[in-house]
Amino acid sequence: MQESDNQVIKRPLSIDIDLGQRSYPIVIGSGLLTNASTFAGLPRASQAMIVSNATVAPLYANRLKASLQGLYNRVHLVVLPDGEAHKDWHTLNQIFDALLAQACDRKTVLYALGGGVVGDVTGFAAASYMRGIPFVQIPTTLLAQVDSSVGGKTAINHPMGKNMIGAFYQPLRVVCDLDTLQTLPERELSAGLAEVIKYGPIADVALLDWLERNVDALRGRRVAALAHAVRRSCEIKAAVVGQDEREAGLRAVLNFGHTFGHAIEAGMGYGAWLHGEAVGCGLVMAATLSNRLGLVDDAFVLRLRTLVERAGLPVMAPVLDAGDNAGRYLELMRLDKKAEAGEIKFVVIESPGRAGVRGAPDALVREVIDACCLRQ
Ligand code: NAD
Ligand code: GLY
Repeated sequence: MQESDNQVIKRPLSIDIDLGQRSYPIVIGSGLLTNASTFAGLPRASQAMIVSNATVAPLYANRLKASLQGLYNRVHLVVLPDGEAHKDWHTLNQIFDALLAQACDRKTVLYALGGGVVGDVTGFAAASYMRGIPFVQIPTTLLAQVDSSVGGKTAINHPMGKNMIGAFYQPLRVVCDLDTLQTLPERELSAGLAEVIKYGPIADVALLDWLERNVDALRGRRVAALAHAVRRSCEIKAAVVGQDEREAGLRAVLNFGHTFGHAIEAGMGYGAWLHGEAVGCGLVMAATLSNRLGLVDDAFVLRLRTLVERAGLPVMAPVLDAGDNAGRYLELMRLDKKAEAGEIKFVVIESPGRAGVRGAPDALVREVIDACCLRQ
C-alpha cells in the first residue's frame, strides 16, 4: 500500500486484545478525543481524573474533559512535570496526593492523557491506589500509540535501572486519536518510529517492506500512513500479549533492541537520549549481534540500519565510559529484567520476521559494542 493522500479516517477501527476478563479494545481514528461516544460503555463512577503533563494538558485536556463531562459528576485534572527524568516516585506520589485530596474512591476512573511516561506512571498509580482502580489509556505520542499504551506494563524508573518498579495492570480501553500526532515534535515522531520498525524484524517482514516504502509519508504525518502503522503495530502487539500477558516467554520478543537501548538510556542519564532513540540504535546493535551469532546476513543488518537512519534515528551508539566502555554496557545490561542469575538475555533475530531470546558470550557482545559505538 502506497500512502499519498492525507485523508481523514472517517470511521474509527477497533482491535481487541484478548485477555479473558481483562480483554479490551484499542480504538484508532481521527477526532476521537472530542467525540463523547468514544467513551461510551465505560463504567459509571462519580469521579474521574485526567492525568497529563505540562506539555500535553494545555493542548488536549479541555477537549477530553468536555467529552467526559456527561459521564461523571466531577472530572479532575492533575498535571505532572514533563519528561523521562520525572518518571519516578515523586511524580507518582503527585497522583496519589491529588486522588486523596479529592476523596476519590475505588470506582474513580483515571485517564492517562499523554505519551508513554504519563501512561506508565498513571497505569502504576491505577494499579496501586486502593489496590487497583480502573484506567483508560489515551496515548498522544506515536510511541505510546504503537506500544506503551497497549499490554498493561506500568512502571516508574529507579536510579539504578529503567522501569524497575511497576506492575502488570491492564487498562479498560486504549484510545488512539491520530490527530494528536500532528502536534508532536519531529524528534518524538522519529522516536515512535523505532517501536514501529521493531515489529518488522520480529514478526512481519511485509511491515518492513511497507515501512521502506512509507517512512517518508510517516515522517510527513500522512494520516493514512499513520493509521496503517498504528493499526499493524497494535495488531502484532495484541497478538503477542494475548498469548503471554506477563512475559513468561514469548512477550520478551517485544523487547528487541531494548537491552542495548535501556543501557544507553541509563548510561547517558534518563532523558538525554529519548527512549525511542535509544531503542532505534539498540535495534541496529541487536541486529549486529544476531549477525555475529550467524543468524542473519550482512544485508539484513544494513537494511535495518538504513531504515532506522531514514526514520531520523541514531544508528551509532554513545560511548558510556572513556575507559572500559563495553564493560560499562555489560554492567548496565546485567540489570535488565530478562537477565537470569547475572546472565544477560538478548532478543535476537533468528530469521527475518522471527525472533528468539538467548545468551551470548561477553567477548562477542564486547565486539558488537565496539563495532557500534561512535569513538571520537
Ligand atoms: P514521553 O511520554 O516523554 O513523550 C514525549 C514528549 O512528547 C513529551 O515531552 C510529551 O510531553 C510530548 N508530547 C506527548 N504528546 C504530545 C503531543 N500530542 N503533542 C506535543 N507534544 C506531545 O515519551 P514517549 O516516547 O511517548 O514514551 C516513552 C516512555 O514509554 C518511556 O518511559 C518508556 O519506558 C515507556 N515505554 C513503555 C512501554 C510499555 O509497554 N509500558 C513500551 C515502550 C515504552
Ligand atoms: N514494550 C514491550 C512490552 O510491552 O512487552
